[in-house]
Amino acid sequence: MKVIEVISYDEMSELAARYFLTKITTYPRLTLGLATGSSPKGIYQYLVHDYDKNRTDYSHITTFNLDEYIGLSKDHQNSYYQYMHDNLFHHVNIPPKQIHIPSGINDNNQAECEVYEEKINAIGGIDLQLLGIGANGHIGFNEPGTPFYSKTHVVNLTASTREANMRFFNNICEVPSQAITMGIQTIFNSKEIILLASGQTKQHAMVQLLSGEVSESFPASILNKHPNITVIADEEALLLAK
Ligand code: F6R
Repeated sequence: MKVIEVISYDEMSELAARYFLTKITTYPRLTLGLATGSSPKGIYQYLVHDYDKNRTDYSHITTFNLDEYIGLSKDHQNSYYQYMHDNLFHHVNIPPKQIHIPSGINDNNQAECEVYEEKINAIGGIDLQLLGIGANGHIGFNEPGTPFYSKTHVVNLTASTREANMRFFNNICEVPSQAITMGIQTIFNSKEIILLASGQTKQHAMVQLLSGEVSESFPASILNKHPNITVIADEEALLLAK
């Protein structure tokens, strides 16, 4: 696991965005795995800014998002569908048919998970996956205890994850209690992974991740076994890990 320490959230975002842009221009048919939340917001801003300036081409890029809340429609302000369109997809020339986000509203969540996994496999897997990390070590919405061999599935969100995400809602009751997420195996199968961590709330997660110990009680720990992962983290996130 390669770790790059940067000074700030902005430096983390710029470095990661530059890396994504190099990949996108070198391999225009790339399949990207994308995340939502606070960690990647800066990257998306940078990509949008770059698109305004340089018109980097996304017309052959395919994307798969990590997860979506169950029960939130596409146009709900807190759906990850909205987040991705507000922060990136509306601002670059990616064709809608190449954008994949699990649907949080459907008759059969299990079937939705299976189809999602099949689509990822059909395209040959994720080339470059962007990840954030939860304070409890979750990646995607794979909470502690999720089997490492899991594929795309339905999860019950833990109280700590719902509380962490409450900042986007009016109160805890509004935070959905279930989500669809790529599994740990799905994520691990990505050819390359960039994991971002910024700020004090990620300090304990960084200590555990960088200890090298691999356990299902800390989902991100499996990434220690991945052949091509880079962690980009700021000083504050790494403070206790040194
Ligand atoms: C988001 C996701 C989550 C977040 C994690 C960190 O799609 O899958 O695993 O990456 O909860 O969230 P932030 O970046 O908001 O601290």
